[in-house]
Amino acid sequence: MDRFVIKGGSRLKGEVKINGAKNSALPIMAAALLADGPSTLTDVPDLADIQAMCDLLGDLGAAVSRNDGGTMTVNVTDESLCHAEYDRVRKMRASICVLGPLLAKRGKARVAMPGGCAIGSRPVNLHLRGLRALGADIELDGGDIVATAKRLRGAEIFLGGPFGSTVLGTANVMMAAALAEGTTTIESAACEPEIQDLANYLNAMGAKIAGAGTPRLTIEGVTSLCGAAHRVIPDRIEAGTFMVAAALTNGDLTLPNVRLDHMLAVVDKLREIGVTVEKANGGVAVSSARRLEPTDVTTHPYPGFPTDLQAQLLTLLCLADGNSAITEKIFPDRFMHVAELLRMGADIRKEGPTAIVTGVKRLIGAPVMASDLRASAALVLAGLVARGTTTVHRVYHIDRGYERIEMKLRALGADIERASDE
Ligand code: EPU
Repeated sequence: MDRFVIKGGSRLKGEVKINGAKNSALPIMAAALLADGPSTLTDVPDLADIQAMCDLLGDLGAAVSRNDGGTMTVNVTDESLCHAEYDRVRKMRASICVLGPLLAKRGKARVAMPGGCAIGSRPVNLHLRGLRALGADIELDGGDIVATAKRLRGAEIFLGGPFGSTVLGTANVMMAAALAEGTTTIESAACEPEIQDLANYLNAMGAKIAGAGTPRLTIEGVTSLCGAAHRVIPDRIEAGTFMVAAALTNGDLTLPNVRLDHMLAVVDKLREIGVTVEKANGGVAVSSARRLEPTDVTTHPYPGFPTDLQAQLLTLLCLADGNSAITEKIFPDRFMHVAELLRMGADIRKEGPTAIVTGVKRLIGAPVMASDLRASAALVLAGLVARGTTTVHRVYHIDRGYERIEMKLRALGADIERASDE
């Protein structure tokens, strides 16, 4: 297992290119199972989760090839294989998004039921409710979801749950409805840019989807879809993480390929805290004078402040001048980073789904343990600004979602090394 050793205190300066979005690429790769013919995807990031999805598509009869430049082709050669096994699904929860495509294209799917993870309980009841509404028979057998349908039929589906819309649930039902007979309406659909990106890819394949990016999707089913070429959107969470890195280190970063229109809630919050975010040469320049104002923030589905940047923002607020409150409305238990930040001298009090953060003068380097992807990013950020040395253990979590983050940070002036625990 690898760890990062970080000596804090360097100002980050320079330009950093943001990769294609993991959370766009994963469902888009699953959607390639719907096509008759090969798809070519570009700007696919080189991540452990992407490799896991490649392996899963291989299990399901697809030939997948990739090059170093982020181009991938997916071509289905055997449609008899329909089992996404527990060993794959437990390592990567996004495996659940092969369920809709397998069911719609092959008439049957057997996908291991995902369990919870470090960010809390993660049910899939809404995915199943939506697919049942399209006419699928679904039962549980030996921990697997077994779904069958001769031909799915369009339906009116309300997909909201107790925590609002569901991103991968919307993806699953939208992908299945693309090949259903008749028209499907999804109400309370997720509006995330990743859902818009998936809809754009499906439409390029011949699907008829309208309303992506709004809470009401209308999908006119078609009888077949062809392979298509598609470029994955830039990763708004990676971009937000680097913006926080600039703010924390009193730095000055340019992000040349950010979709600011996907990040309005994040930019608005950063500006409120005192971070300067400006359009520059087709991209974004981020700098900070290092007096950070405290703030209150609540995570919401898009276009609200994303849960996937909650941990990173919390690290930033540890150094603000006063008290802040961060409330998690998507995954109320997603606070594993708090205990680790306390080890670095942060002053944080948890009250239910809220963290009350009192700004401190400085964080102090310490050995800390990564628990999930975004929590690990928050600890790396803390290490960049802490006095002394921070060792972040179990960085395989961060490799799931950030491509070579230590190399990108080093190129900007950070003192960070990857070391092996062996
Ligand atoms: N929910 C239900 N029932 C369901 C599905 C979800 O009650 O059937 C609840 C969840 O428990 C949660 C809320 O609805 O409280 C939203 O969950 P959602 O389904 O939107 O999450 P997801 O689709 O499983 C994706 C991202 C996550 C991101 C969330 C929220 C991918 C691969 N994953 O997960 O990303 O946090 O949306 O935006 O797209 C990450 O990248 O680190 C990550 C965890």
